[in-house]
Amino acid sequence: MKDWELTSWRNKSALQQPIYPSAEHLARVESTLGKMPPLVFAGEARQLKGALAKVANRQSFLLQGGDCAESFAEFHANNIRDTFKVMLQMAVVLTYAGKCPVVKVGRMAGQFAKPRSAGTETVGEIELPSYRGDIINGIEFTEKARVPDPERLIQVYNQSSSTMNLLRAFAQGGFADLHQVHKWNLDFLNASPAGSRFQGVADKIDDALQFMEACGIGPGLAQLTETEFYTSHEALLLPYEEALTRQDSMTGEWYDCSAHMLWIGDRTRQLDGAHVEFLRGVQNPIGVKAGPSMDPEDLVRLCDVLNPNNEAGRLNVIVRMGADKVEDGMPALIRAVEREGKKVVWSCDPMHGNTVKASTGYKTRHVDDVLKEVQQFFQVHNAEGTYAGGVHFEMTGQNVTECVGGAFQVTEADLADRYHTHCDPRLNADQSLELAFMISETLKKARA
Ligand code: PEP
Ligand code: CO
Repeated sequence: MKDWELTSWRNKSALQQPIYPSAEHLARVESTLGKMPPLVFAGEARQLKGALAKVANRQSFLLQGGDCAESFAEFHANNIRDTFKVMLQMAVVLTYAGKCPVVKVGRMAGQFAKPRSAGTETVGEIELPSYRGDIINGIEFTEKARVPDPERLIQVYNQSSSTMNLLRAFAQGGFADLHQVHKWNLDFLNASPAGSRFQGVADKIDDALQFMEACGIGPGLAQLTETEFYTSHEALLLPYEEALTRQDSMTGEWYDCSAHMLWIGDRTRQLDGAHVEFLRGVQNPIGVKAGPSMDPEDLVRLCDVLNPNNEAGRLNVIVRMGADKVEDGMPALIRAVEREGKKVVWSCDPMHGNTVKASTGYKTRHVDDVLKEVQQFFQVHNAEGTYAGGVHFEMTGQNVTECVGGAFQVTEADLADRYHTHCDPRLNADQSLELAFMISETLKKARA
């Protein structure tokens, strides 16, 4: 990689970084983290890149999802398990209807740093620095909690490491075995249309498995009993990312071993900025968010800088325009990228362009807007002759009331019941599954 060093981002402007009270304390933490084992192996990141190359070549579909912000308070095996379960359910629905493999990537085991639109938050008369995610400061509205603390990087590393360990166990230890498909439905889904529809799909899969086994195929095939599950997060807090970036002993290349895939947020994608500088030098698959302000020519330049060899599977453009903007805004991006022959995976984040404030004061999203943005995303790709390669959601396996709508008809008045997110409102399990069924039908038509 030309003129790149592990620390070359430090000579560029890095937006959205905290200012720590003690630079010396931060340096000590960085040095400690630098000696910790990597959370992923470079070979796994290469494997994900290969899987994403198949998405770029229209042979597969990307499902990326999880918390907006992981937190120390919500760290629990059941939460990890339930998000994993819903991702498995969504993937099965998409695979079954779309008849194509699904690459599963969690916003998990490292998704702790949050970019903020405003540097401070005011409640009544009091103005304090904004909460920037548990890796930086505390969510409590006190002066003390809002001071950035480097020790939080170590806690994030430890929590991510346990989360990763459990995810690996679930993926390979029998939990993700297709023979268990009926057990992935969460109890509260039994009462919902999406939940019963899922049981229907599960019955058909059961039938197919029994038929195959009667024919002598399986049952021990790894393709049926195990799954591949990858992790990802926004590479926002660069000292953390740098400390976990290692030179792969097999290839001599640099990999950010804090996750399989990293992405650059919509607020930190400046061509001459530190985030682009850092990620251009690591060989992981990477994403870049594209909001309404993305200039088509800048996107082409980002492709040049972030994917100079035009490798399929390296770069994922995650479009997050908003339901009312994608139809007008996305064609110019697609045409510029196509004109230059750039290989990218296009995916749709129907969350971040659709955040609104409810009359009750809560930040929320309407399931109908989320559905609409996904549908328009597919329509535009269909019209342009390009491939809608994936979706990117903020969701949870918990029965939360953070987004309005869905089969359980969460209303604005219901938001107060179970609003647990540390940042943006997430789809609950039922809303996620409903969305997966909608996408599966679109995918089926698009692939026919
Ligand atoms: C996010 O994915 O949580 C996020 C902050 O997204 P964006 O950069 O697209 O606003
Ligand atoms: Co978010």
